[in-house]
Amino acid sequence: MTHPAITLPALIAHRGYSAAAPENTLTAVRAAYEAGTTWVELDVQLLGDGTPVIWHDSDVNRCSDGRGELATMTWQQAQCLDVGSWFGDSFTGERMASLEAMLALLNELDMGVNLEIKVNKGRDPIALVDTVMPQVLSALPAERLIVSSFDRTALAHCRHFAPQESLALGVLFGSTPKDWRNQCEAVGAYSIHSHWPRLKRTQADAMRRDGYQILCYTPNDPSAFDSHWTWGVSSAITDEPEAFLRYLGHRRQ
Ligand code: G3P
Ligand code: MG
Repeated sequence: MTHPAITLPALIAHRGYSAAAPENTLTAVRAAYEAGTTWVELDVQLLGDGTPVIWHDSDVNRCSDGRGELATMTWQQAQCLDVGSWFGDSFTGERMASLEAMLALLNELDMGVNLEIKVNKGRDPIALVDTVMPQVLSALPAERLIVSSFDRTALAHCRHFAPQESLALGVLFGSTPKDWRNQCEAVGAYSIHSHWPRLKRTQADAMRRDGYQILCYTPNDPSAFDSHWTWGVSSAITDEPEAFLRYLGHRRQ
C-alpha cells in the first residue's frame, strides 16, 4: 500500500517552538519557522460552540490569564483570553488560534504539520474529527500533513475521510503495546509516534521492518537522543529545535 510522498524532517517543533514561545500559538509556529524548522506538531480540539482551536489542555487554566473548560467555552469567550502573558511579558496579547488561522499560517510559511487530534477526557472524538478533517484536507496537501492521535476511534474515523494513499495517519503510543501491529494495521498507519524513553531498540527494528516511519516525542536533550537516530527513527518531535539543530550541525562537521 502506498502513502503520500512525505519528506519527513529530522525535527518537528512540538506545539510550535514551545521552549521559545507560548505553545500552540501562531507566534510559536512563526518562531519554529524562524529557527529553521519546517514542520510543527500541534494539538487540535473543539470549543463548546464547535469551533476547532489549537490547544492542548482540556481547560485554559495553565496557558492563559483565565479559567474554564474548553468544552463550555464559546469562540467569543476564548478570544477574550490572553494566552501569551503566562509564558512571558513580551507575548502579552496573544490570542488562542483557530484551526482556520493556523492552517492559513502553515500555508503562508509552506510548513508541514503533524496535527494531533487531542481527545481529552469526556470529549467526543467523532464530532472533533467530523469538524477538523474536511477543513484540514481542503487546506493542506497530503505531502505536508500527518494526522495523529492517541485515540483509536478518532484515527479510525479520520480514515473514512481519505484513503491511505492521500492521508498519512500516525498512531501515538506511550509504552508500545503488545498489539501495536494490529492497531497500526487497523487504521492503515503511515507512522508510529513513540514516547522516546520507552521505545526499545527491538521494537523500533520491528516497526521499521514492517515499513512504518518512527517519530519520537518529546526529546529535548539532543545528546540523550543520539542512539535513536541509529535505530532508524525519522523525526524527533521536540520543544527545543534549535538545540537539536546546533547539535546535529556540529556532529555532521
Ligand atoms: O504528538 C506528540 C505529543 O504531542 C503527544 O503528547 O501530550 O504533548 O500532546 P502531548
Ligand atoms: Mg500533542
